[in-house]
Amino acid sequence: MPISNEKTTETFALQSRWKELTVEVNSYLEDCIDSLTESCPRILREAMRYSLLSPGKRLRPILCLLGAEALGACVSDAMANAAAVEMIHSYSLIHDDLPAMDDDDLRRGRPTCHIQFDEATAILAGDGLQALAFETILTKTSVPEVAVQSCLLLAKAAGPEGMVGGQCDDLLAEKLGEAEKQVRAVDMLHAIHARKTGAMIRASVVLGGLAARGTTAELEKLAIYGDCIGIAFQIVDDLLDVESTSENTGKRTGKDSERGKLTFPGIYGVQASRDRAEKLVEQAIATIDSFGSAATPLKQLARYITDRSH
Ligand code: IPE
Ligand code: IPE
Ligand code: MG
Ligand code: MG
Ligand code: MG
Repeated sequence: MPISNEKTTETFALQSRWKELTVEVNSYLEDCIDSLTESCPRILREAMRYSLLSPGKRLRPILCLLGAEALGACVSDAMANAAAVEMIHSYSLIHDDLPAMDDDDLRRGRPTCHIQFDEATAILAGDGLQALAFETILTKTSVPEVAVQSCLLLAKAAGPEGMVGGQCDDLLAEKLGEAEKQVRAVDMLHAIHARKTGAMIRASVVLGGLAARGTTAELEKLAIYGDCIGIAFQIVDDLLDVESTSENTGKRTGKDSERGKLTFPGIYGVQASRDRAEKLVEQAIATIDSFGSAATPLKQLARYITDRSH
């Protein structure tokens, strides 16, 4: 009884903090779009706004803000970095949904960007959001050194050795023959998940630490925490594709095996995948234990990764 009460209180505390921070993040993102001059075509601005401000969980910006708070900084110090990670994430989803990639028509309970607008506009909206992410950090960060370090970290995480590399291998893996899949699946699966999803989740929390001017040792702990919950997050995403519904997730389900994607449940089965995700969450929590009570929200958030239903 006391355990479940404690858990309920913890969950409630995280939920209300998450809601509060989401309002701040959304308003900051909206300002970034509203500040674009007339040189940005109206259709492009609308497509960027449509995807960026649609009702996602805002996990990555929240991670960034909580990462900064865990090291004793204010949320406002990390807001530019938080907005930038959501812009990159939004661009990655727009492109992920394109016919040439996962070919999806539903995202966050709404038509995907290329369905609502058209393919060319969706591609350009993604391109625009990617550039705007770096512009936001460079123009809104008062300490030049933090801006440069943040841009470098984000570029590495989002780029060819990170998210984009993972997305490339995710698509290549669909085309592997059965024999090749048998031999390479396990190695490829880990490498894909670590880059397509893990890299940006890791970067999100470290960008909070950078904004807080954390020490190398502190940033390293945040990075390990981010690595662990990043992989766990994608394992749960794979599980939701198998076990959940479109009504619940706001995107099509059951598509991964149809497309021949390499997924955790596809390789290890549902229960082993869930066990693996839970282990990673425990590892994440243990890693940031030394931060004390300032990191309590990050610990609660780690638990949410495996408890989430969408
Ligand atoms: C979806 O990410 C893409 C993955 C990396 C699995 P989220 O589940 O965080 O999507 P939103 O932002 O809440 O829509
Ligand atoms: C997407 O992974 C990862 C990125 C967008 C970088 P998925 O393709 O599994 O994401 P969903 O399931 O479409 O949200
Ligand atoms: Mg994909
Ligand atoms: Mg997809
Ligand atoms: Mg998925």
